[in-house]
Amino acid sequence: PPKAENGSPSEIILDEFDDLTALSNSINDDSTVSITVVGASGDLAKKKIFPALFALYYEDCLPKHFTIFGYARSKMTDAELRNMVSKTLTCRIDKRENCSEKMEEFLKRCFYHSGQYDSEEHFIDLDKKLKQHEGSRVSNRLFYLSIPPNIFLDVVKCASKSASSVNGWTRVIVEKPFGRDSESSAALTRGLKQYLVEDQIFRIDHYLGKELVENLSVLRFSNLVFEPLWSRQYIRNVQIIFSEDFGTEGRGGYFDGYGIIRDIMQNHLLQILALFAMETPISLEAEDIRNEKVKVLRSMKPLQLEDVVIGQYKSHTKGGTTYPGYTDDKTVPKDSVTPTFAAAALFINNARWDGVPFLMKAGKALHTRRTEIRVQFRHVPGNLYKGSFGTDLDRATNELVIRVQPDEAIYLKINNKIPGLGMRLDRSNLNLHYAARYSKEIPDAYERLLLDAIEGERRLFIRSDELDAAWSLFTPLLKEFEEKRIAPELYPYGSRGPVGAHYLAAKYNVRWG
Ligand code: NDP
Ligand code: BG6
Repeated sequence: PPKAENGSPSEIILDEFDDLTALSNSINDDSTVSITVVGASGDLAKKKIFPALFALYYEDCLPKHFTIFGYARSKMTDAELRNMVSKTLTCRIDKRENCSEKMEEFLKRCFYHSGQYDSEEHFIDLDKKLKQHEGSRVSNRLFYLSIPPNIFLDVVKCASKSASSVNGWTRVIVEKPFGRDSESSAALTRGLKQYLVEDQIFRIDHYLGKELVENLSVLRFSNLVFEPLWSRQYIRNVQIIFSEDFGTEGRGGYFDGYGIIRDIMQNHLLQILALFAMETPISLEAEDIRNEKVKVLRSMKPLQLEDVVIGQYKSHTKGGTTYPGYTDDKTVPKDSVTPTFAAAALFINNARWDGVPFLMKAGKALHTRRTEIRVQFRHVPGNLYKGSFGTDLDRATNELVIRVQPDEAIYLKINNKIPGLGMRLDRSNLNLHYAARYSKEIPDAYERLLLDAIEGERRLFIRSDELDAAWSLFTPLLKEFEEKRIAPELYPYGSRGPVGAHYLAAKYNVRWG
């Protein structure tokens, strides 16, 4: 395998860097970073990776010397790549500003190399081109695998043999899916480790790059009012909810082989759960945080069939418009039983969380788009005011809502007296609404993650043992679903999902928020 990276993980202490420019300067002026986007002709590259790289460039976060190469089989000239990329660049930092000059400068640093994914010869050609740009500087190389997973290993093999750096670091960002069960994930990890050491592998879960997910630890560990309440003693249940108001449009082919549990729950929602529930890490170093996350995952009981409800959206006509069902997609088999919705109850068998249901819900083609963490607190013992809420005592409990997206917010539902001479109580929100509080646009998750990968900061990337633990929780259940071909409950496109999710919650005395 190629050389491991020199030195220890980044020694940057993040809170010392409110100015991001300083972060980029931590890469030496004598070195250069070459970023190769493998699969540059694809959807993710256009939609997310190039725009994120531009945003970093715009904010002066990229090192002084950098080059971006697109690599794919499609034939394209540099000019054609630039033209393709330019169509998706936006001035997200400040929509009123004209970024065209910066865009021009950025595009001049973008190049393209066409090649096969399994050809060492083509990667040798890429290496030659990279060297021309790097000159005599120390070369650091980042490969972003924005390609289907069946070709990950071909690329890693060729890139590591023929295009890795000789005097700097070589890192590879790998996109999900990381396998489809414990066995295939372990095989992928083994395959990657034939050519790379763990420190070179940056497994991306873009939810970890979302602002409010990153803020979870800050909220918890830097506010005295939350951490003491963060346990079974005060928390009744935790809900982690993901919903999209559109179907699998355009990605049905990929999706049918995976389903919502693999697409969203096993990774994005489970990562949120682990961060939410972990013990206080020794420090903010990546290994300390990831050690705590693994402990949570290992303390969990694998999912049981009776604690999971699955659904699939069907066609629905509303206001004269017909929305297609999942199996109407031509790339999806007509008799597919792949779930596009799932709700699950999970439990963490440790002293802090024993008996607390963590409910997850994830679905496509629902009535709204949102990702939220909802923390429902217990009833106030001997509540003096319980009479003031009528019979619905659940309404009297506090709830903390962390709205990850859209319209980021953190709000706490509290009880309050309605002003006036009588004694009537009301629920109000103590609300941190990001758009009102902060004028700056929130960065896209990919910006943060790309910057971290360049900086060698691994905190927000998934370590292989975390991945193994995550798959161990879901693999038996997924196998059972597939072996028994359990039919999902159908729900209309644009609805709130299958009613079974409510029965599941009710089983644990939970009402979905
Ligand atoms: P695409 O299907 O668009 O593939 C990317 C590129 O890979 C294509 O442009 C094509 O380039 C090449 N390619 C596609 N299929 C094959 C094949 N069968 N054999 C060889 N090459 C192929 O993928 P996306 O851009 O959508 O996604 C890239 C990765 O990111 C995937 O792993 C995906 O699961 C993951 N991902 C994607 C998300 C998204 O929103 N799109 C979200 C989260 C993860 P060419 O023909 O020019 O070589
Ligand atoms: C991806 C899933 O990982 O996340 C998609 O594969 C999903 O199915 C997407 O649409 C959601 O990401 P975001 O950032 O738009 O919420």
